[in-house]
Amino acid sequence: MLVYPKIKTRLPGPKSKRIIKQDEKYVSPSYTRTHPVVIDRGEGAALWDVDGNRFLDFHSGIGVTSTGNVHPRVVAAAVRQMKRAMHVATADFYHQPVADLAKKVTSIAPGKGPKRVFFTNSGTEAVEAAFKLARYIRRRPRTIAFINAFHGRTMGSLSLTCSKQTQRKRFAPLVPEATHVPYAYCYRCPYNLSFPSCNFHCVQVIEDVYLDKVAPADEVAALIVEPIQGEGGYVVPPPGYHQRLKKMCEKNDILFIADEVQSGMGKTGKMFAIEHWDTTPDIIATAKALGSGLPIGAAIASSKLMSWDRGAHSTTFGGNPVACAAALETIKLLENGLMKNAERVGKVMMEELTRMMHRHDIIGDVRGKGLMIGAEIVRDKKSRKPAPDWADEIMMEAFRRGLMLLTAGPNTLRIVPPLIISEDQAMAGLSILEKSITAVESRKKK
Ligand SMILES: Cc1ncc(COP(=O)(O)O)c(C=O)c1O
Repeated sequence: MLVYPKIKTRLPGPKSKRIIKQDEKYVSPSYTRTHPVVIDRGEGAALWDVDGNRFLDFHSGIGVTSTGNVHPRVVAAAVRQMKRAMHVATADFYHQPVADLAKKVTSIAPGKGPKRVFFTNSGTEAVEAAFKLARYIRRRPRTIAFINAFHGRTMGSLSLTCSKQTQRKRFAPLVPEATHVPYAYCYRCPYNLSFPSCNFHCVQVIEDVYLDKVAPADEVAALIVEPIQGEGGYVVPPPGYHQRLKKMCEKNDILFIADEVQSGMGKTGKMFAIEHWDTTPDIIATAKALGSGLPIGAAIASSKLMSWDRGAHSTTFGGNPVACAAALETIKLLENGLMKNAERVGKVMMEELTRMMHRHDIIGDVRGKGLMIGAEIVRDKKSRKPAPDWADEIMMEAFRRGLMLLTAGPNTLRIVPPLIISEDQAMAGLSILEKSITAVESRKKK
């Protein structure tokens, strides 16, 4: 097991530099590109760049490589299928992998009774499918989404996204009638209250104000929510929150869509994060980790709900047989140990990060479930003033020391390793992270 990173060159190394130069000439400059490095290959929780530097992976390709980089069983399943058929138009023909994956995915999704699934190639398409299905079935024009939510970048999903300004700027007009309401971000409560004495004031306001005056309830098709906000800063709502939201939706005949594109597929220690709140969504959108790296997404609903007419929604690539084979093997691996590992190693990491928070004044909050963990960086604990520049610097310090991680929201360090990570690797990564925090903290607090 490769525990420690090995950095042999200055970063980026000479080969990386050459490829980056070529890339910058021809590839769209709109990608965010946080790390100046050219990835060559991966194995488990380790990544190599083209210059032979080895990194520890707390990034997992933005929460995608759930079973680790190139898990041999996932690769074998994909290759087996690739030799039979790389593409079957799921829109027009039937095939075994899609039928098998549909059976499996609908059986693991929360909720009793028969379910159906629409397969896509990405998270944003899974959200589009959920969004369109809700409108189609309910025949109502409005949707409730949340401030700081991220649901994707195609026009429908983007209308529901409310994360960074740059994601929406100059793309208006978007799909109309999406109303964004405050999320249960307890560390920075939008109403300046504390849990539990707030008695879910943030949910009550949705019902009393928004569904009354802004978006009349009988015009709202769906509420879409990330069980744990991802791009918004790895924000974990308090116990009871989603139950309350669901109850409010039921009362007003509004569909509850859980966007599990980031939080789904075992990384929180449960297959879907919403299960931590014992809530059954009407529609679930998932993607990212479902295929361990092969592009696949899914919108899942009860068979009764997913009853749109032939041709109402379809796709050329969605349900690709190779991606389906990879996803089936991924789910087997998650069920046979990796989800448990996420729960176990995640707990150890949370404990260590909480100790780190007590040692460092610039870590304001540590939160998460399983291996979906955020550490919010602030100027100091007392003021809680967000320190986005310091969070970015910590990310880059860690990178130079061989640890790949991202930020989420303006100022949260995002820790989302592959579920196959060992406790030794996790602790080695956290030790690098602490050195990086110490370096930035001592520079800034001088
Ligand atoms: C919660 C959530 N929904 C949707 C998306 C969009 O997924 P994709 O980038 O695959 O289109 C993301 C991506 O980060 C996400 O985190």
